[in-house]
Amino acid sequence: MREVYLDNSATTKVSDRVAQFMYEVMTEYYGNPSSLHRKGIEAEKLLREARENIARALGVKPREIYFTSGGTESNNLAIKGTAYSMRKQGNHLITTTIEHPSVLEAFRQLEKEGFCVTYLGVDSRGVINIGALQKALRPDTILVSIMYINNEVGSIQPIKEVASCIRRNKNTVFHVDAVQAFGKIPMEIEGIDLLSISGHKIYGPKGTGALFIREKVRITPLFNGGGQEQNIRSGTENMPGIAGLGAAAKEAFENMHSWGKTMKDLKKRLKDRILAEIPDTVLNGPDADEDGSCQDLDAPDEAPHILNVSFLGARGEILLHALESHGIYVSTGSACSSHKEGKSHVLSAMGKSNEEIDGAIRFSLSPFLTIEDIDYTVDVLKKEVEEIRKFVRKQTWR
Ligand SMILES: Cc1ncc(COP(=O)(O)O)c(C=O)c1O
Repeated sequence: MREVYLDNSATTKVSDRVAQFMYEVMTEYYGNPSSLHRKGIEAEKLLREARENIARALGVKPREIYFTSGGTESNNLAIKGTAYSMRKQGNHLITTTIEHPSVLEAFRQLEKEGFCVTYLGVDSRGVINIGALQKALRPDTILVSIMYINNEVGSIQPIKEVASCIRRNKNTVFHVDAVQAFGKIPMEIEGIDLLSISGHKIYGPKGTGALFIREKVRITPLFNGGGQEQNIRSGTENMPGIAGLGAAAKEAFENMHSWGKTMKDLKKRLKDRILAEIPDTVLNGPDADEDGSCQDLDAPDEAPHILNVSFLGARGEILLHALESHGIYVSTGSACSSHKEGKSHVLSAMGKSNEEIDGAIRFSLSPFLTIEDIDYTVDVLKKEVEEIRKFVRKQTWR
């Protein structure tokens, strides 16, 4: 059976070159980078190279890159680390209602500890309003955390405008969760103080990530220990993971333009065929106009790799399993929350109806898919959506 993996925002398949490199690191360059002997020095060189790869990709200094265990840890370290270190300057924090749980739950924890948090809403396209941010900013605002690309619908936030808006508040640190943007689109780093990335979204290993911390910014570490990563993230470095992340970042940035173009074309094909051939479908995200039927692929607020569509009258979870039986893998929302009870907080924040939320499927692309994969997916989708709708109609008549 053909296998079509359309869940690349949940995780990606590790690149062969990256996996081979990690194998070499595990079996040959297995020293501890803190050791003084040759094995340690070899490992330290790999650590330095990985750091340089990430720094180059972001256009920042290598010493501003701190390795972590992934996007979740980077987000927690950025948010709690800033809140704890700047407590004396203020108590107010700002984020959005559509963040990943690793951001939202960190803020909920800080609220329990006495911090005051403002949650900015989004419009029907999943984008925040700069005017609302301006209004929310206070002299005691110490942190603003806004994601670059939303993982469920692919909306891109106006990061440059946010940065220039915050610049006027000299005590406000700006954190960006760039897990879904890193390696996918060119990013505007100017004005960002902290930025989270993750390895497994860019054909690198799971359990790897990094936090960019601008030189002038001071954060409180969450772990105490041997003082690795300039005392910010103690613990013996995950060398195979770090080397894999560095290699994956290099590959992703070298190919960003061509991979992005391929994904855009594949996404357009998927979107156009779904809208033309499957009735009662609604686009969720930046590419939908008011009635959810028009798409401008060159809109600057659209991710090249994420397409979220509601198939009205067909429950997303049932459709997901129906597609799986044909070798097609998709998601009903973000992978982290799809096992939990309740509806997508992102689609709810965008004002979507219950029917739209229940029927939502997220397709997330990689440049390694083909037009034939997309056509196969739409052919199967057409049949399965129709079957599910027929079944639901029968049940309702009974
Ligand atoms: C936007 C966003 N932030 C953070 C994360 C968490 O990253 P990790 O899985 O590396 O912990 C994810 C993962 O899905 C994500 O999509």
